[in-house]
Amino acid sequence: MVLYFPKAIEMRKIWLVLFTGVLLYACSSVKDLPPTVTNTGWKAKSIPASPQQNDGDPEAGFDYISNGDYIGSGIPYEVFEKRALKGKMADGVLDRPGINEKLPYTFTAFKGEGGVEVVNGNCFTCHAAEIDGKTVLGLGNSFSDFRISFKTLAKAMDLGMKVRFGKKSEEWAAYKDFRDYFRASAPYIKTNQPGANPAAVLAEACVMHRNPEDLTYSEKPNYTIPDYAIATDVPPLWHLKKKNALYYTAVGRGDFTKLLFQASVLGIADTTAARNAITNFKDVIAWIKTIEPPAYPYDIDRQYLTKGAILYEKNCSECHGSYGLHSDYPNKVVSLDAIKTDPLYASYAMRAPIVEWYNESWFATSEPTSYFEPEAGYIAPPLDGIWATAPYLHNGSVPTLEDLLNSYQRPTYWKRSGKTEDYDREKVGWNYTTEKNGKGKWNYDTTLPGYSNAGHYYGDHLTADERKAVIEYLKTL
Ligand code: HEC
Ligand code: HEC
Repeated sequence: MVLYFPKAIEMRKIWLVLFTGVLLYACSSVKDLPPTVTNTGWKAKSIPASPQQNDGDPEAGFDYISNGDYIGSGIPYEVFEKRALKGKMADGVLDRPGINEKLPYTFTAFKGEGGVEVVNGNCFTCHAAEIDGKTVLGLGNSFSDFRISFKTLAKAMDLGMKVRFGKKSEEWAAYKDFRDYFRASAPYIKTNQPGANPAAVLAEACVMHRNPEDLTYSEKPNYTIPDYAIATDVPPLWHLKKKNALYYTAVGRGDFTKLLFQASVLGIADTTAARNAITNFKDVIAWIKTIEPPAYPYDIDRQYLTKGAILYEKNCSECHGSYGLHSDYPNKVVSLDAIKTDPLYASYAMRAPIVEWYNESWFATSEPTSYFEPEAGYIAPPLDGIWATAPYLHNGSVPTLEDLLNSYQRPTYWKRSGKTEDYDREKVGWNYTTEKNGKGKWNYDTTLPGYSNAGHYYGDHLTADERKAVIEYLKTL
């Protein structure tokens, strides 16, 4: 008995561990994720250009991206008015007229349904960021944090709106579209990594509740999606002028104005509102094409530049394109088995239900047409302004260029200070410390699904001196 008893406890322990394991596995959202694509049968392909409308007006585009109504619906301005009028919200980044002058650059006030002035985020919430203490429009924001509970936020917003305005008010009517789509997407956009941006999932969760023909709200979802938010870094907008397809996976094809819907699906009412937005997006595209990357503000070791240029041409230009006299950009997608970076995002895109929805929707069936064509690979991006766009790779898993070009050196867990001046001029990217785990406000955990720092081994064979030469050259692009 005495001997048997501890054994029983052992058995119970084993059962408990097994049972918990099975339960955790069953409950884990990761179970819905697709198997990763490992054998594509191709190495690289160039994506051809598709017809674009090239007659947009950049100035009108900048005005629309800064002040426009492309989100369609939002929170009544009245809610912010007191703080805004006290000057508590203005940051002076955008020189905007009217009440927008009083709002931070990441928010825009515009007229929603019934002429009610509403406020919502704008493109610069994700597509502007600070580097070296300056806000750069078009730079991807890698300092956002989507690890909060959006479900609780959605409920709190609703309660606040009900108490303040009531469900029969015109303010509620102007809030309702945003409310419906935010509630629908809230359960899916919570990430597990600081800086990672769930815009793709946000779009997928919103159109899950839109009728494909007229984009109106449908209570019944069109499809289901996993509740593990696969999030990415945010690419800089100055790449657009070189690109034949949008997004890391090159999934976005055809007319670009139609593809810029990822924010609009959060609040526009229907295809009439969408038509208005895309008409103005023609100008927005023209403005985006005028954005130049910021020049490297610190010293460049010029004695390395010739050597760096030669090494770049030999080892990198085949995929990333050439600079200088004979500049070109091949728009090359490299297959998952060749690039070997984290395959989850591209593998998911291959099966994502939004692809079929999109290709049967207003976006694909009315002029100017766009469509989704996922590839089991990632586009080799242009490297213009690459010094400013750390962290690197589509998932932002590598903190500096030196680590990207030396895979043995990449940290499994790393932490930034969260300060945008904390920049490493030597390795080029964010200053970081190597950590023991992913716990902490700015800790990046490369062991989580979707966030591996593997792959892209094209700098590993270089000597330390050659690597330095390539990095000095990259600073000039
Ligand atoms: C919630 C954050 C968010 C908002 C708001 C947002 N974007 Fe993006 N955007 C992203 C992310 C993340 C990606 C990368 C997705 C991918 O490539 O798979 C992206 C990709 C893009 C791209 C493709 C870039 C490339 O190199 O392929 C363009 C162009 C773009 N966004 C423009 C806009 C415009 C214009 C707006 C406003 C109408 C906007 N975005 C609003 C997060 C956002
Ligand atoms: C066979 C094609 C190929 C070659 C050769 C190649 N790259 Fe890449 N590179 C890619 C692809 C594809 C990606 C995107 C991978 C991802 O995001 O998962 C990438 C990503 C990068 C990034 C990160 C971009 C960003 O915005 O996060 C940098 C920097 C880079 N490469 C630099 C280089 C340099 C420098 C060389 C030469 C030493 C080189 N690459 C050689 C295909 C290539």
